[in-house]
Amino acid sequence: MQKQNLIFVILMIMLFSCNESSIPEEVNATSPTIVKIAFGSCANQDLPQPMLNVAVEKQADVFVYLGDNIYGDSHIMDTLIAKYGRLAAKAEFQKLRDVATIYSVWDDHDFGENDAGRHYPFKAESKEIFMDFWQVSADSDRRKHEGIYGVEYLKRDSLTIQFVLLDTRTFRDELIHRSPEDSILHKNDYIPNQNPDSTFLGEAQWTWLEKTLKEKADVRIIASSNQFSHEYNGWESWTNVPHQQKKMIDLIASTKANGVVFISGDVHWGEISKLQTDQNYPIYDVTSSGITQEWDIIEPNKNRVGEAIPQNNIGWIEIAKEANGTSILLSIIDSTTQQVVAHKVNLKEISFQ
Ligand SMILES: [Fe+2]
Repeated sequence: MQKQNLIFVILMIMLFSCNESSIPEEVNATSPTIVKIAFGSCANQDLPQPMLNVAVEKQADVFVYLGDNIYGDSHIMDTLIAKYGRLAAKAEFQKLRDVATIYSVWDDHDFGENDAGRHYPFKAESKEIFMDFWQVSADSDRRKHEGIYGVEYLKRDSLTIQFVLLDTRTFRDELIHRSPEDSILHKNDYIPNQNPDSTFLGEAQWTWLEKTLKEKADVRIIASSNQFSHEYNGWESWTNVPHQQKKMIDLIASTKANGVVFISGDVHWGEISKLQTDQNYPIYDVTSSGITQEWDIIEPNKNRVGEAIPQNNIGWIEIAKEANGTSILLSIIDSTTQQVVAHKVNLKEISFQ
């Protein structure tokens, strides 16, 4: 072989071997996961909860409890405490608590009464039990004001992830029941409350939320026990107080809060909803329900992305750095540990331009 040909062959071998080794590096480098966020709701303390094992197996960094975390449903506080105790005694819950940071909001059943709002008479007592069970620190602002709302931050790499934990029960006005005649035609319970004085979050929480949304963060996970972005269907949700849903949309616009994604529970099925608005980027809402509860009739939802999930599930969000920016994978996982619905968005798609 002539010397020139030999050099050519050596160069080709080097080039080939470089390419071969760079492929897996490139694949890894384009999609390193920064954080894995699991969430769920509707967990009967008397039933096994294997969905929590799924979160552990998949190594969730954070698990957000979205309410109905126990089925308390009592005016007797010792009963609430005993039911929380049954959750605490579960091996699957203890494992999750050992490996993941846990944040929590409540819904009606752990608040203390089905569909209850601000008139539930033991909300202050129930709050103390909630704060103690979820190990909210003694100096947390959440313990200082009425209601359980609060904010947590997670910093990973160069990203700040804000967890906005809403209280959808302590301040919420009563919803408006259907008339008895109307109830014969509709199985669900409520018609929209058009009274402009009615509230979902209450004045103090709205003021706090405005301040919170102005804080610096790259991604904002808003934990709301009730669904936000779906189509009205008559069950409890933000759509039953439409002027308050609009207030939230307006607040996201006026504060220029980038990277908002809602997560919600309560309804006993899982789905991803995408709400288009005039002034904002699309507001995604990943609903995961339930850890133990299921529902056989899925409501129509024109805002749904992909399928609804009637079987037990947890929600799953993965934030990753990719070549074209930060990606946010929104998904729902069933007991097989497979994603049964998934939708990936680029952070730029949910940011004001
Ligand atoms: Fe609920």
